[in-house]
Amino acid sequence: MKLKTLALAAALVAASTAHAQGLPKLKVGLMLPATGTYAALGTAIENGFRLYVNEQGGKLGGREIEFVKVDDESDPAKATDNVNKLIKRDNVDVLVGTVHSGVAMAMAKVAKDTGTLLLVPNAGADAVTGPMCAQNIFRSSFSNWQPGYAMGEVMAKKGHKNVVTITWKYAAGDESVRGFKEAFEKAGGKVVKELSLPFPNVEFQALLTEIAASKPDAVYTFFAGGGAVKFVKDYAAAGLKKSIPLYGAGFLTDGTLEAQGADADGLLTTLHYADALGNPKDNAFRLAYAKAFKLQPDVYAVQGYDAAQMLGIGLAAVKGDVSKKAELAAAIEKAKIDSPRGAFSVSKSHNPVQDIYLRQVSGKENKLVNVASKALADPGRGCKL
Ligand code: BEZ
Repeated sequence: MKLKTLALAAALVAASTAHAQGLPKLKVGLMLPATGTYAALGTAIENGFRLYVNEQGGKLGGREIEFVKVDDESDPAKATDNVNKLIKRDNVDVLVGTVHSGVAMAMAKVAKDTGTLLLVPNAGADAVTGPMCAQNIFRSSFSNWQPGYAMGEVMAKKGHKNVVTITWKYAAGDESVRGFKEAFEKAGGKVVKELSLPFPNVEFQALLTEIAASKPDAVYTFFAGGGAVKFVKDYAAAGLKKSIPLYGAGFLTDGTLEAQGADADGLLTTLHYADALGNPKDNAFRLAYAKAFKLQPDVYAVQGYDAAQMLGIGLAAVKGDVSKKAELAAAIEKAKIDSPRGAFSVSKSHNPVQDIYLRQVSGKENKLVNVASKALADPGRGCKL
């Protein structure tokens, strides 16, 4: 009887391997920025994704992975055409993207309409795991609300009362500030002025003059990529760093420290990753990433790596058959993802439930200070799943 069971199990494994081998390559449509202020973020996400696929011998769920790439330029106006090209012209099986919240919302709409599996490896648009949530849409990163909310609590605890916010005027900036304001004002603080400029403008001078004139206790900000580099340098050059403490969502100083140099030193930010977390998964990941790309990883690389892990988990459950949508989604929903940031699972609306760390810049690193918010779940407002 035991032998019979073993033989049956072996036959099943052989059948499923043969099934996977019989399937063509799995086409992954990578829609990421390769140009513009977020170009480096796109590269890090792709590197992280490829690192995980390579660690699995180039296959997920038994299927060889083939990439089709589009530079989305972080331009929402081109997003629907770009994603339709991937689905209709290139016949991708899975969509992975992107960095910019406005572009990601266009991707989510098409994914929802067509039922194509979408893994979002950065863009925090609250709507993607809010009103636009769907069985086939998962995020490996964060919602814009999460780091902002955690920082609202941190800054209130530090005793700041009157704060000015400054950001780009688009979903990511608006929602990051909204999350911050929700926690900060709940704890008794007041946002006295909300400053913004259009994405991806970097003409900060007039706004910095306004901050100086307002004399707040502190400033909260969301900027990322090339814009974050310039903002931190301009803030210091304007002489504000000494008089008005600057805080931010961690994108302000992630992947940017080489270029920011001493102007970033000491800055406090909140994010779901920090350098040298020291857990075994992170140690192995950082070593492998540095070896493969001759670069230190950042939060974007982690999110790319974890998007590939999530896809791997889903595909393994359906033996590479992406048409089994409900089973694939159920596997990711119940998974604990062994991330370099620390293990996490997804909420009902498919956003990571994760620790948000308080970090401080020291030299070229975002060093862990403490856990600002343990297992923080985005409220998933408006999601009906
Ligand atoms: C966003 O648009 O959602 C975003 C872009 C860069 C870093 C973080 C968030």
